[in-house]
Amino acid sequence: MLFPFLRVKTMDIPTLRTLVPVHGVPLSIEIAENWEAVEHFQAQPDDLVISTYPKSGTTWASEIIDMIYSGGDHERCRRDTIYNRVPYLEFRIPGLPSGIEQLNATPSPRLVKTHLPIQLMPESFWEKNAKVIYFARNAKDVAVSYYFFHKIVTALPDPGPWDTFLDYYMKGDVGYGSWHEHVKGWWEKRHDYNILYLFYEDMKEDPKREIRKMLHFLEKEMSDDILEKIIYHTTFDVMKTNEMVNYKTIPNDVLDQTISPFMRKGIAGDWKNHFTVAQNEKFDEDYKWKMSGTDLHFRTEI
Ligand code: A3P
Repeated sequence: MLFPFLRVKTMDIPTLRTLVPVHGVPLSIEIAENWEAVEHFQAQPDDLVISTYPKSGTTWASEIIDMIYSGGDHERCRRDTIYNRVPYLEFRIPGLPSGIEQLNATPSPRLVKTHLPIQLMPESFWEKNAKVIYFARNAKDVAVSYYFFHKIVTALPDPGPWDTFLDYYMKGDVGYGSWHEHVKGWWEKRHDYNILYLFYEDMKEDPKREIRKMLHFLEKEMSDDILEKIIYHTTFDVMKTNEMVNYKTIPNDVLDQTISPFMRKGIAGDWKNHFTVAQNEKFDEDYKWKMSGTDLHFRTEI
């Protein structure tokens, strides 16, 4: 089955426009073709996985964690771009090193980014009891952020009008599938494995409190001064101007930030500027049904 996703932006990268289901989850055809390698990936006990549904603040969480690993030394965090410091496990685009190739060349302890739903995680992470920080963001802000992301990434399909994209997103016919299934899947298993489940909105509200949770989970200690430094260097405004994290190192024909910056708004509640009243009612109705029976709750504003 192919997902009949919308229109295509360019004709010269025909293979990148198709999502194919991998164990029922729509992933890019490149990832699907490389699936066996992902499935058999060999984790190490000191790997730290940063897992998110796309557009949930992965880059933010990654920079915070790399700063923790660097003892708050922001110059050290400028040693490379975030996508090289925290390789993206399942990433694969022909002509570029795959995430697995990058990880295999990365010394321990490795930071590993993934957007995989929990049921698709390589078994090896659980066998090795590796730690995972799952960073979740409310469904409405993710929808808006994902919409703009589709506009700027050449390899993703043209999202068409917002209303159309929102329908696809609600159905889970987008890369990595249903947001609802993703956040619930990780939540339900958080006590079975070594998982710390955090929220974007909480980090926005009180980064010190949330970074302390990370430190506790990572069994690390840090002075208040260093903690303050990490908070400062990972604020939206500072990260927006930092070329090592704002993706400005990627050429415009791959990621066109003239349309919309990668570091777009970085707030909780921007969905209110995009959802109509009718879209919001429909979304809430669908959400209630899909999230019934879980004790997982999100804030859509702070
Ligand atoms: P918006 O599009 O809503 O602005 P990801 O890294 O998972 O792709 O997520 C990108 C989203 O995280 C974007 O959301 C981006 O602006 C936001 N973001 C990145 N750095 C941030 C920071 N330091 N503080 C708050 N939000 C941040």
